[in-house]
Amino acid sequence: MKKNELIYGGDYNPEQWSEDIWLEDMRLMQQAGVNLVSLGVFAWSRLEPAPMQYDFGWLDTVMDLLAQHGIKANLATATASPPPWLAKLYPNSLPTKADGTRLGIGSRQAYCPSSQDFRLAAGRLTSHLAERYAKHPALAMWHISNEYGCHVAECFCDTCAAAFRVWLEQRYTSLEKLNTAWYTDFWSQRYASWDEIQPPRQAPYMLNPTQVLDWRRFSSDNLLECYKLEAKILRRYTPEIPIATNYMGFFKPLDYWRWSEHQDLIANDIYPDPTLPDAHIEAAMTADLMRSLGRGKPWLIMEQVTGQVQWRERNALKRPSQMRLWSYQALARGASGIMFFQWRASKGGGERFHGAMLPHSGTDSRIWREVVALGQELRQLELGETAPQAAVALLLDWENWWALEGDGHPFKMALMATVKAWYMALFKLNLVVDFAHPSDDLSRYQAVFAPNLHLLSQAAAANLERYVSSGGTLLVGAYSGIVDQHNQVHLPGYAAALQPLLGLRVEEFDVLSQGATVQIQATTGQFFAATNWTEILQLEGASLLGQFADGQPAITQHQFGSGTTFYLATQLESAGLDWLTELVLQQAKIQFSPQPTGLERVVRIAHGRQIVFWMNHQAQTVEFQVKGLCLLTKQRLCGLVKLEPYGVLILEQTI
Ligand code: GAL
Repeated sequence: MKKNELIYGGDYNPEQWSEDIWLEDMRLMQQAGVNLVSLGVFAWSRLEPAPMQYDFGWLDTVMDLLAQHGIKANLATATASPPPWLAKLYPNSLPTKADGTRLGIGSRQAYCPSSQDFRLAAGRLTSHLAERYAKHPALAMWHISNEYGCHVAECFCDTCAAAFRVWLEQRYTSLEKLNTAWYTDFWSQRYASWDEIQPPRQAPYMLNPTQVLDWRRFSSDNLLECYKLEAKILRRYTPEIPIATNYMGFFKPLDYWRWSEHQDLIANDIYPDPTLPDAHIEAAMTADLMRSLGRGKPWLIMEQVTGQVQWRERNALKRPSQMRLWSYQALARGASGIMFFQWRASKGGGERFHGAMLPHSGTDSRIWREVVALGQELRQLELGETAPQAAVALLLDWENWWALEGDGHPFKMALMATVKAWYMALFKLNLVVDFAHPSDDLSRYQAVFAPNLHLLSQAAAANLERYVSSGGTLLVGAYSGIVDQHNQVHLPGYAAALQPLLGLRVEEFDVLSQGATVQIQATTGQFFAATNWTEILQLEGASLLGQFADGQPAITQHQFGSGTTFYLATQLESAGLDWLTELVLQQAKIQFSPQPTGLERVVRIAHGRQIVFWMNHQAQTVEFQVKGLCLLTKQRLCGLVKLEPYGVLILEQTI
């Protein structure tokens, strides 16, 4: 791709159509300003119709056509959905559920990630593709498999059991260490030999929490092995071509921090439900995660829909201009391209009612006109190396997610509900947020928010201490610092790992009934409602910011080294969270400017260039003051502007 050229395109599945349609596709892609297509994602059965009998002729033609029309290919390794012959030849290549049921063919992604037969066949196809297209002028990027873990994130078959044991041996080196880490003296689970260990299959009652945690680590790593296997082959043939797979936002089964070390570029698929009033906030949060997973580098929307999906109970159409608006939102938050699933709507198959750039109704349609208009706009837009800069980081750790949402807690806390509530408080103040791992170097952030770090290793706790003692500001949410990496309680008491940092001890937890609220009184006088969870704290140096009705501490503040920590021992409803968030930001000297509801403002910045995106997520016009050069119309604006419903204004300002 040309430097700073914004990517525009979608999944292209020419194998579903006859050749005469391909030419029309090329013409229409040019009209829409498409410059990249994800090609052949589900084409394995057409590329290898029988074992080791390959048919690349049709793909040669499509690749040549793309090159002739100046369109690049994000060429898929096509290994996400094995053809029916693989399961017929190797029934063990099919995945197995926790209850022992083996899943069948006829849908997609039916493979066991540990199956050597699957891995060998996938590797062979990847090699053939890499060898054949390495020098092809259309090749710009490799698309490995598709949405790893979608549908089948864990397989419980005997092959996976064996792979799990190998993984465990590498992790623990001795059975004794595993028994200690897993606390197997509880319920007579002590293992005397490695081959006694099983995946956490369906069992009479609760499974060992450390076994389950390790199983989740293993399952994420095991799929990553499949990715790495293909990546290694591709790098051998085309070391200069970027490779990636497509993510699914906050996808619980895969530890995207670990995965991202192996991606040349972060690519994400995003399908917010347009009927939800907060859909754009969730999209903003996902965009911030993608930028963070790529450590600030440009990332890509690999898939979104133009109109409507077909997989929810009810599938509402995006409102006119909403597709454009959400595309710009991603660009504002650091993306460098917008792609769709898919280019041309399928005539048959399970996704025949899924939206596309070219819908069933053809070119005389609102959606096509919007697609063309956006494509033309993106050709004009030049964002250079600008990127959003975050002063705040929100900590997110997949291992914590798995531990927190396992069985056997005082209350079933949902991590994402808390993360989203905290993110929303920051979003309302128009702050771009980075996500970070608790072990990351946090020194560049003025404030760090840790909504719920239930699992926290001693090393990560020490990292937080380092951050605060050298001047950082940290807000920690309830039920944090409770267990170590083996899912065992840090003793004595609770939150022992955070005790000095927070200046308090957590003596007990208590859980409220469903729907019940408690009042928190802030020392500044206000009352805020809280739900679900309370704690009994013993303050050891921390000072009080808010208390429960019985006078017990609920919110505290503590000076640690040159920095400050805040602790929230309950789940505050939004008014309280807004108040606390502002307090923390003030302490961290972070400036914020709330905007009218539904108006989002994001700044991209670099080398003295500042580009401000204003986005109206409401069905009503909004008015606000601006000054700068509009990058879409090239007009200078100064004073009050009216932004139409779902409208976007992009201004370059001098700084
Ligand atoms: C994604 C997938 C695409 C398509 C799309 C439909 O999960 O990668 O192939 O199925 O969803 O929304």
